[in-house]
Amino acid sequence: MAYNNIKTNLDGKVLTIYINRPDKLNALNKATLDELHKLLCEVEKDSNIWVVILTGAGNKAFVAGADISEFADFNYEQGMALSSDGHVRVFNKIERFNKPIIAAVNGFALGGGLELAMSCHVRIASLNAKMGLPEVSLGVIPGYGGTQRLAQLIGKGKAMELVMTAQMIEAEEALVLGLVNQICEQESLLEKAYGMAKKIMRNSPNAVSCAIRAVNAGYIDGQVGLEEEIKAFGQCFGHPEFIEGTTAFMEKRRADFEAVRKG
Ligand code: COA
Repeated sequence: MAYNNIKTNLDGKVLTIYINRPDKLNALNKATLDELHKLLCEVEKDSNIWVVILTGAGNKAFVAGADISEFADFNYEQGMALSSDGHVRVFNKIERFNKPIIAAVNGFALGGGLELAMSCHVRIASLNAKMGLPEVSLGVIPGYGGTQRLAQLIGKGKAMELVMTAQMIEAEEALVLGLVNQICEQESLLEKAYGMAKKIMRNSPNAVSCAIRAVNAGYIDGQVGLEEEIKAFGQCFGHPEFIEGTTAFMEKRRADFEAVRKG
């Protein structure tokens, strides 16, 4: 299959996958998610690949979120389907992948972008990276596992704060919070991720795969939360505040939720 929205580079047993829509800050549209799903299905069967590094093309963004222009006119059912398909086909698939996936966060990782990084088994961020879940500023909630995985990584209280304020944080703070495992200069990001891949590859691939499964099994409670997230995400769609939030983004202005409330 020819890929238009992702590109890959195989170096020994390490496959680097680039989300490749730099003009749109690598925002995840449906075509990109479809291609990522297809590629992951191939990679999981390929015994020549031992470790995957996931990063963004260009030097500005890892992924700046789901593609807002694609879902701005979605209704409740379409919103739920968007979230649920993404969970199954990409985000849960990455989390449960049979080989390690390292996120190399090379810039903005917002909304679905941070959710993508959080689905990976470990995260290394460059110093220019900015991370956050800004969905409530658009009148929606994180819909690709962010409400669960952020709390699992940094604790409930801080996750609540970041989700409710829609605030972005810098790489240093993300490191202190445990949101990322390591930080480094942007120029050395892929080298650092590759270094971690090399350490992992000294070990038994079978045991590493079993370890991923076992660590994940301890977080099974999150499944209930993921189902609730899909429902709550869908409920935001079609709401006047969602329409204002997404329209404001596309019109490059700040959303005025107060005006919507006043009618
Ligand atoms: N969906 C769709 N398009 C997006 C996008 C997204 N999530 N994030 C960025 N883009 C597009 C912009 O619309 C713009 O396209 P254009 O050149 O055709 O107008 C292009 O990417 C560059 O982004 P721009 O906003 O001009 O860059 P910036 O440096 O001024 O701002 C951000 C960078 C990341 C702060 C800003 O793009 C942003 O807030 N993005 C949305 C983040 C978000 O809310 N994500 C969660 C989605 S659920």
